[in-house]
Amino acid sequence: MFLSVVLLCLCIFFVILQLKSRRPKNFPPGPTILPIVGNLLQLNLENPLKDFERLRKTYGNVYSLFIGPRPAVFINGLKAMKEAMVTKGVEFAGRPQDMFNNEITENKGVILADYGPQWREHRRFALMTLRNFGLGKKSMEERIHDEIQHTIETLDKSIGKTMSPQVMFHNMSSNIICQVLFGTRYEYDDYFIKEVVRCFTENAKIANGPWVMLYDALPMIRNLPLPCNKAFENAKICKGLVNRLVSEHKKTRVPGEPRDFLDCYLDELAKAAEDSTFSEDKLILYALDLHFAGTDTTSNTLLTAFLYLISHPHIQERCHQEIDKVLGGKDQASFDDRNDMPYVQAVIHESQRIANTVPLSVFHTTTKDTELMGYSIPKGTMIIQNLTSLHNEEGQWKYPHEFNPENFLNDQGEFVKPEAFMPFSAGPRMCLGEGLARMELFLIMVTLLRKFKFIWPEDAGEPDFTPVYGVTLSPRPYRMKVQLRSSE
Ligand code: HEM
Ligand SMILES: *[C@@H]1O[C@H](CO)[C@@H](O)[C@H](O)[C@H]1NC(C)=O
Ligand SMILES: *[C@@H]1O[C@H](CO)[C@@H](O)[C@H](O)[C@H]1NC(C)=O
Repeated sequence: MFLSVVLLCLCIFFVILQLKSRRPKNFPPGPTILPIVGNLLQLNLENPLKDFERLRKTYGNVYSLFIGPRPAVFINGLKAMKEAMVTKGVEFAGRPQDMFNNEITENKGVILADYGPQWREHRRFALMTLRNFGLGKKSMEERIHDEIQHTIETLDKSIGKTMSPQVMFHNMSSNIICQVLFGTRYEYDDYFIKEVVRCFTENAKIANGPWVMLYDALPMIRNLPLPCNKAFENAKICKGLVNRLVSEHKKTRVPGEPRDFLDCYLDELAKAAEDSTFSEDKLILYALDLHFAGTDTTSNTLLTAFLYLISHPHIQERCHQEIDKVLGGKDQASFDDRNDMPYVQAVIHESQRIANTVPLSVFHTTTKDTELMGYSIPKGTMIIQNLTSLHNEEGQWKYPHEFNPENFLNDQGEFVKPEAFMPFSAGPRMCLGEGLARMELFLIMVTLLRKFKFIWPEDAGEPDFTPVYGVTLSPRPYRMKVQLRSSE
């Protein structure tokens, strides 16, 4: 009897020893790993930011955590980030597979596609298409200006009153992407855009929640009816909606005369070779991917910019002066005017630095065995870039911890961009919408500031600058007062 109990204990002991995940040799350091759950129990799954800060202090700029059995390496600070994303860009250009978000997008978009021919061809195609827009008869700038006119109508109705800008900026960014993708903007109460936005908002919330963290960490629970499964239904609804648009486009398009992104892709599909990675169902998820990537990011950046502009009136005033001086009697701003507006440029970049809109970028993986800061990292390891850590790194900024456009101005008042500025990340995976996003931020801010003055309402208390945690960070909801400048 005694012997069998001892034998049983020994067996259990060896089983546990087998299960215990261990860090590979010379792997970046981190806290002790428990079997099966890894470091999950040591994190606050609702908002792990505090835990991350503690870990960085203990283990340094490159440390590791086990999310279930899956190791993840966190990269902080410019030195490590440059080595990974720029010097060894290709070795760090993979994306994790077999996770919740991959299943939602069926590995067909570009954001989450692994490093390889499908990703490369689709990325190249999008970069080329976005560059050529001016698709058809309208330039990208005109498309953006058209949308701004609708926003001005909304603001005109609020003159002398306070309004909440959240939905306005969201509608605006969504519509600009829709213009590019589908050739139309959607009346703000349109069913199509309402449904797409609802599905994405819900899915973003789900993707960010504790259930998905568990889903990714513990493959054995995946067949259970988890609350996060709602996301699959939402994805199906969105796919159905875009599928309808693709069918319409197929009926009305003129080959060789694309009106929008869908037409371009259909043209490409028509001339595609046997072994091409292009296909119609990829188009649907690709379009959704781009809409998702371009909406919250841009609108949350705008929200942050306006929050700081209304709480720093002297900075807004300097923007007004520069805009008036450069535009003079001109009809409207063009993107080229940015070269004559160093101060406005500095304010936009400073807003992006402070906003940290995509704080942990999109997760990468290593595409082969590699090294970082002297540590060995095996192929397929998940890599998490901390972009925030660059944007407030001591030694990289004149004023790392305050909102101050001087961070982007030299002694002559010229615009300069420090190396540590990476809101779009860097390297082969860098945001492919950067060009479009820059154009939007500039034209929207200049046009709105030229016409209106935005004011923090007297009765609104002190502004709260702590962002709401999520895949993208956004400011807490706030209201602003709108005044026509000509009536000053
Ligand atoms: C201010 C606005 C934006 C910010 C801050 C932003 C930021 C980012 C970041 C940090 C990444 C991850 C890069 C990496 O993994 O290393 C990314 C990827 C991406 N972004 Fe943006 N983005 C913005 C706007 C846009 C827009 C307007 C579009 C659409 C046209 C877009 C499309 C994409 C795509 C497709 C990817 C995936 C690229 C790839 O995996 O190869 N983004 N973005
Ligand atoms: C990223 O860096 C910021 C600032 O240095 C820090 O507060 C945060 O905890 C870091 N996050 C992670 C995931 O390491
Ligand atoms: C934004 O769009 C939604 C519907 O998509 C609409 O209900 C709302 O009134 C719009 N708001 C603004 C401020 O444009």
